[in-house]
Amino acid sequence: MSKVQQDSKSLNFHRKLSIAPMMDWTDRHCRYFLRQITSQALLYTEMVTAQAIHHADPEKLLYFKAEEHPCALQLGGSDPKLLANAAKLGEQFGYKEINLNVGCPSERVQSGSFGACLMAEPELVADCVAAMEAEISLPVTVKTRIGIDDHDSYEFLHQFVQTISERTKCDVFIIHARKAWLKGLSPKQNREIPTLDYQRVYQLKENFPDLHISINGGIKTLDEIEEHLKHVDGVMIGREAYKNPYFLATADERIFNSVQSRELSRELVLDRMKDYITSESGELPSRYITRHMMGLFHAQPNAGGWRKKFAKGDIA
Ligand SMILES: Cc1cc2nc3c(=O)[nH]c(=O)nc-3n(C[C@H](O)[C@H](O)[C@H](O)COP(=O)(O)O)c2cc1C
Repeated sequence: MSKVQQDSKSLNFHRKLSIAPMMDWTDRHCRYFLRQITSQALLYTEMVTAQAIHHADPEKLLYFKAEEHPCALQLGGSDPKLLANAAKLGEQFGYKEINLNVGCPSERVQSGSFGACLMAEPELVADCVAAMEAEISLPVTVKTRIGIDDHDSYEFLHQFVQTISERTKCDVFIIHARKAWLKGLSPKQNREIPTLDYQRVYQLKENFPDLHISINGGIKTLDEIEEHLKHVDGVMIGREAYKNPYFLATADERIFNSVQSRELSRELVLDRMKDYITSESGELPSRYITRHMMGLFHAQPNAGGWRKKFAKGDIA
């Protein structure tokens, strides 16, 4: 087994539950916060474009703290060379996995010819994945949707996954179980309007039993996660992890059977974050960190009071 395959296999444990890449949300402060709640789930960065890494200071875009591990970097792009360079930097910065975004439907992303529109170009996606694999020894994975526009048959998805898995070493696919409408719907609407079709993702796993398939979209509870894990290898959670993060507090024990599980109370999470804010102070106003904590007291007494405090950067 190659080193890439070994690394990928050992990450598979953490891939049972992952937190989705979310632009403006899952920055390094958010990830540090979520890491206080679950020590095992794999955390994804927000998408960073290969272009941005090429033009800007990589330190600003890629720096993160080792405490966030296991942590995967999501890249956006469609130029194999630029992606390969970005992946190389990602490896140097210490990420455990490089993920390619083939699911984002925003107009800005489409005009750069990447994101979900790349589903129509599986050969190009394979070129991009292969170019990254040639530069790094980390696993390269793909996050995508079940289809785009009128390309919404199961055969289309099957063909997409088959092309990439045959032409590259990529054996991990994360599937958002809705198609994307590239024209006419905003990214937000594209996360709500197209219907969820979990069966399609289950079918993919049945047809590709050797691939690691994670399911994503509309999943909100540990019970639902456990149900999906009967059909697929992993579950990725997006919005619920941000809006109601404390539901993940028992995930280490329930999903990972972690013997070292250490469920922290909300108050202890808060204490840890106070220390973190102190350690980061001077770099930025504390509200840049506390803005990610708005959901900590979701549905608890005085949740609104906490939200107001966090909005101002107050954590006392
Ligand atoms: C604010 C926000 C930003 C997002 N940014 C990204 C992104 O950068 N890359 C990506 O692949 N998906 C992105 N997504 C999509 C999520 O990763 C996920 O696929 C989607 O929200 C469905 O999962 P959920 O129903 O659990 O939220 C974003 C979602 C949200 C809400």
